[in-house]
Amino acid sequence: MDIKQKQIPSDGQKILLRALAESVANPGCKFLEVGSWCGDSARILGKIAQENGGYLFCVDWWKGNVGTDLANIAKKEDIFSLFWKNMCREGLEDVVVPIRANSDVASLILKDHVFELVFLDGDHRFEATLNDIKKYAPLVRKENGILCGHDCDGYISDFDMDLIENGKNLDTYKNIHCGVVLAVGTAFKNYSIDHNIWSIKSSIIDQGWQPTNITFPAPIKLIEEGYEEFNIIKFGENFYALAQGLGSVDFNDANIDNLLQEYCDKSQCFIASSVSEAKRLVARYYSNAFKTSLADNLKIIEALKQDISCRDEDIIKLNKDIDECRADIEVLREAIFSKEKMMEALKDDVLRRDESIKNLKEELSFIKSKWWFRLFNGRSDNKNKNMKENL
Ligand SMILES: C[S@@+](CC[C@H](N)C(=O)[O-])C[C@H]1O[C@@H](n2cnc3c(N)ncnc32)[C@H](O)[C@@H]1O
Repeated sequence: MDIKQKQIPSDGQKILLRALAESVANPGCKFLEVGSWCGDSARILGKIAQENGGYLFCVDWWKGNVGTDLANIAKKEDIFSLFWKNMCREGLEDVVVPIRANSDVASLILKDHVFELVFLDGDHRFEATLNDIKKYAPLVRKENGILCGHDCDGYISDFDMDLIENGKNLDTYKNIHCGVVLAVGTAFKNYSIDHNIWSIKSSIIDQGWQPTNITFPAPIKLIEEGYEEFNIIKFGENFYALAQGLGSVDFNDANIDNLLQEYCDKSQCFIASSVSEAKRLVARYYSNAFKTSLADNLKIIEALKQDISCRDEDIIKLNKDIDECRADIEVLREAIFSKEKMMEALKDDVLRRDESIKNLKEELSFIKSKWWFRLFNGRSDNKNKNMKENL
């Protein structure tokens, strides 16, 4: 079963929560958390309390939130044991004080205590959140104490009022914690929201609350630039190998978690718990990328080989065609040559016959002229006798 251990999912939230706690921590300080589940946020607050020799009180009934997955999980799993195991693993068993109770009941038990910081992350529905704010705000140190809470997705004015009204009695509605947004906005005029954590600071002078305006300490540290075209950076507790091609990445962007997820999906970012793991992930990425590109190249080579053998067959066919054409041309050329020779002979024949005709014509005309002469002279006088005899 997915226990949903991680309830403070982004590094931004962790850093902000740590910054809020650090801003009010002092020796022997006391922090209070309402809603601890498996201890994701308790781990952060507990560590700072520990560093200052202080305590973290954790109020939770460990039954999950009404109407949510957490309530179903808590019916099947011993979440309190898991919480305590996690605290012990962090070495916080002498720092964290669990109070297993309804937050309403616990507020009565704790009413005489003063806390440097109260973090509300219990029931997220409107009435319950407003009730927690009312019951626990008076327990915050009067000067420079912090009251804050999780899952405030924005100011009331950021949302359509119908959406807030429709969702205020649910844990979340359309991914918005409408109850938290409305309760915080109803209880306070000015407050800070960053990475979905709302926060205010107590002030005696103003007799009330002010926004904390706490911004991130510069959490980004460049560990190594240009490691295999990735920059290795440390942000919060994690190390990130970010492809240099991404340019500068704004880790304070409210949308940073989605962005990082997008980069991870495209293998442009690897998240690790140490520098060496980050480098290992980069190396594995390249070796996988090389393997893939090698396999792709082999496929391309295979396809090209097939193409070449097809073309070879074409070339052989074309060469055969060309040879056949050449032979045809040779035959035709010889036919033309012999016809030309024949034509020459015929021309000679014609010329010879023309010559013969010419000669015959001349002979004919000579003979004719002789006959004309004889005919003519046969009717004339004897003077011409000698001539006729000559003929
Ligand atoms: C969202 S989880 C807290 C997550 C926790 N802060 C973390 O970072 O892991 C809410 C917790 O509030 C507790 N809770 C809800 N309603 C409660 C109530 N009325 N009294 C006490 N605890 C309550 C649930 O049991 C659950 O553990």
